[in-house]
Amino acid sequence: METSRRTVLAAAAAAGLTAVAAPGTAHAKEGGAPVKELFGTLADGTPVHRWTLENGGTRMRVLSYGGIVQSLEVPDRRGRYANVSLGFDRLEDYVASSPYFGALIGRYGNRIGGGRYTLDGREYRLSVNDGPNSLHGGAAGFDKRVWDVEPFRSPAGVGLVLRYVSADGEMGHPGRLATTVTYTLTGDGDWRIDYAATTDRPTVVNLTNHTYFNLAGEGSGDVLGHELRLAASRYTPTDATLIPTGELAGVAGTPFDFRHGKPIGRDIRTAHPQLVGAQGYDHNWVLDKGTTRAPGYAATLRDPGSGRTLRITTTEPGLQFYSGNFLDGTLSGPSGRTYRQGDGLCLETQHFPDSPNKPDFPSTVLRPGETYRSTTVHRFSAR
Ligand code: GLA
Repeated sequence: METSRRTVLAAAAAAGLTAVAAPGTAHAKEGGAPVKELFGTLADGTPVHRWTLENGGTRMRVLSYGGIVQSLEVPDRRGRYANVSLGFDRLEDYVASSPYFGALIGRYGNRIGGGRYTLDGREYRLSVNDGPNSLHGGAAGFDKRVWDVEPFRSPAGVGLVLRYVSADGEMGHPGRLATTVTYTLTGDGDWRIDYAATTDRPTVVNLTNHTYFNLAGEGSGDVLGHELRLAASRYTPTDATLIPTGELAGVAGTPFDFRHGKPIGRDIRTAHPQLVGAQGYDHNWVLDKGTTRAPGYAATLRDPGSGRTLRITTTEPGLQFYSGNFLDGTLSGPSGRTYRQGDGLCLETQHFPDSPNKPDFPSTVLRPGETYRSTTVHRFSAR
């Protein structure tokens, strides 16, 4: 952990300011083993558990349902904690209608055009759940599956290993996909995600996490004043159904230029056809670093009010910045406040949308004998 953060946290603890009690009862010791509790039961009787982890000054709660990050608590520059992720405090709300709050997304993050693709000369028809397209894995993607969860404590930190085996043909995709996702809270308070998957038939894979961030705290209003920096000179413009046209367009001179950092709200109301079509930002940025073996710099998000800062590094070549355009005030979070348009934003590290139908995009094909690997690190600080 940065010294300044340690100092701030020690001062806050001395002043009696500790982590806010997020809904629920379980508490984990800083750096201690993750704590498990029953969160709810699905209609078919399957129990859903919630795990609480705390390390390096960051606390998170994770559900076995969808691998959902239910809450993520980090301190501001004075050591005051807030839950910076949108979510619910009841399982029923996640099951009934969640816009992927905090969820693990698979087998294919974002959209596949027309809900179909051809691989090795064979056409596969997918579960279509977003107009003509397949979105975030289809009607019952990885966000709606109960994962097998195993806690760990290691020199790397404290964490959870989540496992799910997607059957051959599930949601229309070929191949039995064995998926392992590791969430680690490091001693520095970083939230690291390592994804791995293997298959027994050629298939496509694109895994991500769909946490909605509001660094001022969920339920505190919109994120239009947050400053965002994206290390990307190009993005992938989309058609009316949010499928990339295939073009890699330059951001220079457009509202899509976040290279030097700017408030999210600065250009969001520009009548640029891409912003009108998506009702805000809902696009894939082409990271300048490309696909990398080690996580490379992708983005920084900062709330000037609290000083809370999130820095993202990833091995992935793309990042979907979604400005919470479809939040319409009908859902409310643990704070008891409703979520309206722009009250949270997602930064989803990924391969580009519709890659299975775009031969020029980096490939998402996984073949037997290969291992899909992807890593994203979320570093929290306050300044
Ligand atoms: C992604 C998509 C958006 C929307 C959200 C969920 O970010 O790109 O269009 O579907 O997920 O509401």
